Amino acid sequence: MGAKRGSAVKLSGMKSTEAPPERTKSGIIELDRALGGGLVPASALLVGGDPGIGKSTLLLQAAAKFAQAGLKTIYISGEEASEQVRMRAARLGLSDTSVQLGAETNLRNILTTLEEEKPQLVIIDSIQTMWADTVESAPGSVSQVRAAAHELTRFAKRRGLSVILVGHVTKDGQIAGPRVVEHMVDTVLYFEGERGHQFRILRAVKNRFGAADEIGVFEMTGQGLAEVSNPSELFLADRGTPTPGSVVFAGVEGTRPVLVEFQALVAPTPHSQPRRSVVGWDSARLAMILAVLEARCGIPFSGLDVYLNVAGGLKISEPAADLAVASALLSAREDISLPADTVVYGEISLSGALRPVSQAENRLKEAQKLGFTRALAPSNAKQPAVTDIQVTQIADLVSFVEEQFCAEKRLHVGDA
Ligand code: TYD
Ligand code: MG
Repeated sequence: MGAKRGSAVKLSGMKSTEAPPERTKSGIIELDRALGGGLVPASALLVGGDPGIGKSTLLLQAAAKFAQAGLKTIYISGEEASEQVRMRAARLGLSDTSVQLGAETNLRNILTTLEEEKPQLVIIDSIQTMWADTVESAPGSVSQVRAAAHELTRFAKRRGLSVILVGHVTKDGQIAGPRVVEHMVDTVLYFEGERGHQFRILRAVKNRFGAADEIGVFEMTGQGLAEVSNPSELFLADRGTPTPGSVVFAGVEGTRPVLVEFQALVAPTPHSQPRRSVVGWDSARLAMILAVLEARCGIPFSGLDVYLNVAGGLKISEPAADLAVASALLSAREDISLPADTVVYGEISLSGALRPVSQAENRLKEAQKLGFTRALAPSNAKQPAVTDIQVTQIADLVSFVEEQFCAEKRLHVGDA
């Protein structure tokens, strides 16, 4: 240590004397939920997503709502001319709002504008188009994105305004993408969806002011994004008569129960290397479940192509879906349909044992609400009292296969 001493840090106790932050609700319930109950003043937010997924649409709608709720709001577009944004607003029926539009990419000009206008909320669409003249590299480069995000979030904290940054993510990686911004902001929301599907999920992946993993569900319509307050109904809407390979999973996203259909197709492969194709679920997890089915139950999938799909374009990452995936695979392989009134959930361990999952009651209640009467669930779970659902408790995968798929004597555990 040198001779120079630092000054002592001012310490304080853990007990807060400040009231919790006053949040502003947009009135878009699905957005407010993902935010953890509304927008916190002087907070920095990142909304990431694939190009074309609907970020600008969502944020224009949000801007109008926040303005209506009393926040002085500015929307800066670095990608479109104000006239283009105005045309979109007209299409969304949002022309009659106090939101101020600006088309600008120069960070210095934007900060000057914010200094003069003193808004309470500013939306920057997108962070990749912004450039700071203090940084040498080209707009969109990592150092530009980092510098612009840093300046904007610092400004927001200092002046007490909230800033929402829009960031594009690219499929192949997050190069120059919003990943470099994630640690600078308080809240990170990802806007996801499959192309060709109208559903959009706004997922909180980080939130200093609320629970992560909370989701908001939207539907892209001709007039912008519409809220979906009953996602299970929507995700199961296209379900016809029970078919082999189709299984309803009672899932939970954040605090919210969501029922979705897993669909599997298993067919003899013409290739030397069988295909494993997955949409909406982790392919490594599928490989694990196939391995457990083979090693513990003696049911091989070699020589068989396996396709697995979550209907509706939702991405599921809960391990609680393991049993639903295993059921869909067995059902497809054996050409046996599960009863239409059954939901499935449970995590599978490498030993083939079933593990209990969280929020069982929440799952069962949602299933009951949608008219399901039976559930296949882990046995060691403390059974919640949802009276109208008959829960079949499962201890391990071997007994599950015996009970559910061997009754018709098509499958014998162990005799591959
Ligand atoms: P956009 O919000 O521009 O996406 P992002 O900002 O994430 O790149 O939305 C792009 C798509 O949404 C575009 O292909 C058209 C479609 N769309 C609708 O279907 N309905 C609408 O009301 C609007 C405004 C857009
Ligand atoms: Mg856009």
